[in-house]
Amino acid sequence: MTTTRYGIIGCGMMGQEHLRNIALLEGAEVAAIFEPDAGMRAEAARLAPAARMADSVADLLATPDLDCLLIASPNFRHLEQMEEIAATRPLPILVEKPLFTDPAETARLAAFRDSYPAPVWVAMEYRYMPPIAAFLKEAQETTGGIRMLTIREHRFPFLHKVGGWNRFNRYTGGTFVEKCCHFFDLMRLTLGDEPVRVMASGSQAVNHADEDYEGVAPDVLDNGYVIVDFARGGRAMLELCMFAEGARWQEEVTAVGPKARIEALVPGPGRFWPEHLGAPPVPQLIVSPRDPKGPELREIPVDPALLEAGDHNGSTFYQHARFLELVRGERAHPEVTLEDGWAAVAMGLAAQMSIREGRAVAISETGLMPARLRAA
Ligand SMILES: NC(=O)c1ccc[n+]([C@@H]2O[C@H](COP(=O)([O-])OP(=O)(O)OC[C@H]3O[C@@H](n4cnc5c(N)ncnc54)[C@H](O)[C@@H]3O)[C@@H](O)[C@H]2O)c1
Repeated sequence: MTTTRYGIIGCGMMGQEHLRNIALLEGAEVAAIFEPDAGMRAEAARLAPAARMADSVADLLATPDLDCLLIASPNFRHLEQMEEIAATRPLPILVEKPLFTDPAETARLAAFRDSYPAPVWVAMEYRYMPPIAAFLKEAQETTGGIRMLTIREHRFPFLHKVGGWNRFNRYTGGTFVEKCCHFFDLMRLTLGDEPVRVMASGSQAVNHADEDYEGVAPDVLDNGYVIVDFARGGRAMLELCMFAEGARWQEEVTAVGPKARIEALVPGPGRFWPEHLGAPPVPQLIVSPRDPKGPELREIPVDPALLEAGDHNGSTFYQHARFLELVRGERAHPEVTLEDGWAAVAMGLAAQMSIREGRAVAISETGLMPARLRAA
């Protein structure tokens, strides 16, 4: 097997998780990294000692023999960096979520989509967590057709990031874009349907209240509910609380249909689980039929080497394995397309709008969904 060579743009916390996972994949190596922060650059160089450290995106793109690119820079840089790549050296791209942050950017995004000659895969790690993957495989059939989907995330507050970029909506797109685009992606994927209406309520209740960034206070929403109506009558709800890291499970995903309920229970990062409580919880899948009653619980353990390599239940590894198939021509299309990434942001922006304006928002009125995915 010839070695597939990655170029990496942005190598902070998530970029370094990618480095650790690429190191576990056969026939893959990191050829070059652009990371502007000295501390993060040093850590990235330690994790990928053979990689060339570039001075800019342009310098990185000048590296010979690159096969693919990964963008793991702050959210508000993703689109401009994709455009720079398109203008210089179009290669297959794995771009971290969220794909974009500002509603005004959709025309640029469409222009990029229509002209980019190589595949683009949007990183949606949650799809690839083993308990979520098991849930996705079984949910429709087990339930007899999902009518209700509930995603609850009870987690720790946003971590500190280089320059504090994740403290401000203008850099992240807002919590329901930055964090929750994953869950809107899962809603579309699980229901196999497109959203028509979003009703949300949320606030900044607890977190970051005493922080100050050169006289400016963070504007991070830290809790909320989002209800989404889907075109064929299914409905989904997200419950987010970012001051609940005491919970055993970080994500609880439940689907219910006429035959049964199915549920995936997912713990947070193992490194945050207190040592004195023993081993971190093992993910679970629970199927609860209506007739005959009798919940069946299955543990879905994750390979310890993969748990060690990141904060996302092994998903980063599985996603790269599939992305590499695409880069090597063994798979025709990205599993998470540019339009999937776009739709997830469109739903997050609609939720932010619903919270701001205190009303239900029709997806059609936002004009934010890619045209092909607009529900009739
Ligand atoms: N899919 C997931 O589960 C997941 C999880 C965490 C983060 N992310 C995403 O990954 C991205 C990075 O997040 P993070 O948590 O690593 O943040 P981070 O701040 O730890 O890392 C971002 C890095 O990008 C660097 N950077 C700043 N400006 C840059 C530029 N113009 N070009 C290249 N690099 C630049 C920063 O110095 C920093 O080291 C974000 O888009 C975030 O939403 C995804």
